[in-house]
Amino acid sequence: MGATGVTGKQVTRYLTQSHPTLKIAIAGRNPTKLSSVVSTHGRPSLPTLVVDSFDIPSLKSMVSKTKVVIALSGPYTKYGYPLATVCAQQGVHYVDLSGEFFYQRRVIDGLEDIASSTGSKIVVAGGYDSTPFDLAAHIAVKSLPDSTNGDEDIRVVSIVDEMHGYLSGGTLASMIAGVSEAITETLSGKGSNYANDPYILTPYIQDCEKVDVDPTGWGNFLRYDRDVAKWGIQHFMAYVNSRIVRRSMNMMGVTRVSYSEGLSVYSMVDAAVWAVPWWFKGGFKVLPSPGEGPSEEFMKEGGFKVTTIARRGEDTVKVNVVGKGDPGYGHTSKVISEIAVCLTDGQCHNDVFPEGVGGVFTPSTACGEGLRKGLEGVLDFKVEMGEGGGKGGEEL
Ligand SMILES: NC(=O)c1ccc[n+]([C@@H]2O[C@H](COP(=O)([O-])OP(=O)(O)OC[C@H]3O[C@@H](n4cnc5c(N)ncnc54)[C@H](OP(=O)(O)O)[C@@H]3O)[C@@H](O)[C@H]2O)c1
Repeated sequence: MGATGVTGKQVTRYLTQSHPTLKIAIAGRNPTKLSSVVSTHGRPSLPTLVVDSFDIPSLKSMVSKTKVVIALSGPYTKYGYPLATVCAQQGVHYVDLSGEFFYQRRVIDGLEDIASSTGSKIVVAGGYDSTPFDLAAHIAVKSLPDSTNGDEDIRVVSIVDEMHGYLSGGTLASMIAGVSEAITETLSGKGSNYANDPYILTPYIQDCEKVDVDPTGWGNFLRYDRDVAKWGIQHFMAYVNSRIVRRSMNMMGVTRVSYSEGLSVYSMVDAAVWAVPWWFKGGFKVLPSPGEGPSEEFMKEGGFKVTTIARRGEDTVKVNVVGKGDPGYGHTSKVISEIAVCLTDGQCHNDVFPEGVGGVFTPSTACGEGLRKGLEGVLDFKVEMGEGGGKGGEEL
């Protein structure tokens, strides 16, 4: 759904090329644009469905025909909830690219019980925000050895160490919608608590299990982190990613985990040096409109690197995630597609929550190991394990 947008076109192309036998249909509100996506990014026989995000009968009809819906009509604050609701009601899996934590909390409050009763997996944050961070933290924590330190608190730190990409008009519109919702909620008296609450997406967590006090975990200032051995500031998406990671830990029953996320000084300098020539070549617009995004070449040439370290006592595990393709689009379209593919196959996500267990999920809790496998090889998305259980302070 939303196949005519910047991400929708990439997802259509990725799924038709990489999963040629998968039965898919593309949906959107404009039939002319849909036909154009079929001819430029799809395959001739690809079925199209004309559906508007506010037209409940057309949403119900679309959802009744499928097992999994990829929701790409954003901003989600505006267009997301009716589709997520219909999926939850009909027991159909749903995955979106939402990064708006107010929206995600609304989905948890409104749809968790419905989805639990129907077996629908409603997966939020299935793009660059927050999948690599969420999956890396999941793998790192799971790989910590059982040791005598098992009852000590766990500290997880992620740092973005390379970031070659830019945003689309749709993402810019979502950021504006997210900020305006934050302001509205704050004025209504609820938002300030929400905006500053590291655990906004874990409403059932016990107070004694809470470790973090700052939403990003990193703090407001430039600092050196001794675990990742880098200077950095809080990552601008940490307000989103950190809450997703905390929800994942809570859902997996891992208690007393602190999570922080930074952006290295090196990556900021490197991103600027990389982007300026692209801007001169017209690779992206500084202020794109909805429907506009970076050029195809820019999306292909982009990439990112994230390092995650989990520590419990003296034990540490390091996970490197290397993504090829612009994080926002080149990479995101593949990640959300692979989450959807994994959701079509009950065997794929058996190591976390099996088919039939519904609710509001994060990427790692929806797909676990299956997603890591699905991403390897098809995406140049590499997960490198450090020497699990290496002693703190050692080079892994
Ligand atoms: N988490 C991440 O890493 C990540 C990365 C990329 C994007 N995103 C998010 O993904 C979303 C899409 O981004 P984008 O860049 O692809 O946006 P976009 O190019 O503006 O596309 C938006 C899509 O929504 C559709 N739409 C708008 N109103 C609709 C309605 N009433 N009914 C049905 N469809 C409607 C548009 O249809 P028309 O073509 O007919 O206008 C278009 O297909 C945004 O919310 C963005 O923030 C997140």
